[in-house]
Amino acid sequence: MTARDPVSACAPGRVELLGNHTDYNEGVVLGAAINRFTRVSGKRHPRVIRIGSTSFGQVQINRTALRPVSETRWANYVLGVADELRELKVPVGGFSAEITGDLPIGAGLSSSAALEVATALFLLKLFPFDLSRLEIAKACQRAEHRYLGVKSGLLDQVISLFSRAQQAVLFDSRTEEIRAVSVPCSLALIISESGVRRELANGEYNVRQSETQAAARAFGVRALRDLKSAQIDRRADIPALLRHRARHVVEENERVRRAVELLEAGDAREFGKLMNASHESSRRNFENSTPELDLLVSMAQRLPGVLGSRLTGAGFGGATVTLCERSVAEKAAKQLAADYTTQTGIKAPVFVCEIADGAR
Ligand code: GLA
Repeated sequence: MTARDPVSACAPGRVELLGNHTDYNEGVVLGAAINRFTRVSGKRHPRVIRIGSTSFGQVQINRTALRPVSETRWANYVLGVADELRELKVPVGGFSAEITGDLPIGAGLSSSAALEVATALFLLKLFPFDLSRLEIAKACQRAEHRYLGVKSGLLDQVISLFSRAQQAVLFDSRTEEIRAVSVPCSLALIISESGVRRELANGEYNVRQSETQAAARAFGVRALRDLKSAQIDRRADIPALLRHRARHVVEENERVRRAVELLEAGDAREFGKLMNASHESSRRNFENSTPELDLLVSMAQRLPGVLGSRLTGAGFGGATVTLCERSVAEKAAKQLAADYTTQTGIKAPVFVCEIADGAR
């Protein structure tokens, strides 16, 4: 390859199967990459950084003037990653890049992380440098913190980088252990977008982060990871809101651990029940669901062959994930889309996805 050759990299979106808002509380999470991708392609440029996207247009800055841009926030994912790689001594110079792909944007399927990860792999090919996948994930996360002001955990980047076809990824955000857990071939995942856009930076996500940190302080633990659900009941003196937030995170951690045992034992039915319980806890304790997500979940739970359903990712809009017997998944997805449109008038995509390999 010469310096002028075009290169390209592609990264998948993800679903969070269980472990809602646990990652920034040093907890555990179970997720999987989906077969919808963001691709970044392009080549070196002597003077500028030029980024084009069919959905958003074009941005160009001088290659020596890396900084967040306020008018075209979407470009900050790319610029932030370029900046973070430079901090790690990657010799990122000028380049022109085109963003394409079939991963829905802003639907709660982690289009942000997919763009960051695809950008990182693209730049590391263009300006060759050796970084481990975990270092790449963390650089992408820092880019999101610094350039977008969203204090997201590491879940999305880890799943996008480490996933394997037909396997879920267990990520322990304290020990940084990453483990593959097989998902039986007889099961399928249905993704349903609620059609309500989610803008993490709009605040609710960061608010939940402060609340869970306040809860950890109130319970006297380093992080909610260190709390057990039985301890919550004994502390009626702590404000109800903090107890509810803590309960969600603590029980999500417990559900993830149980879910791994269940998946390893091939017990999909019980696994599905944990997904239902997770959604219920989002609704009541964490208050990160919406009427549209609740509707999708309750409609899905009534369909034949469905084992469990919940919101996936940050919440406050976005999408749901439903575990279904593969033999009836297409039928269930069609039914769910039709029922949702009838009830709300919203035409939002519902599709059966495969668990895909990570970014490459
Ligand atoms: C978003 C964040 C993740 C994680 C989830 C909630 O997807 O980017 O880091 O916190 O929300 O579990």
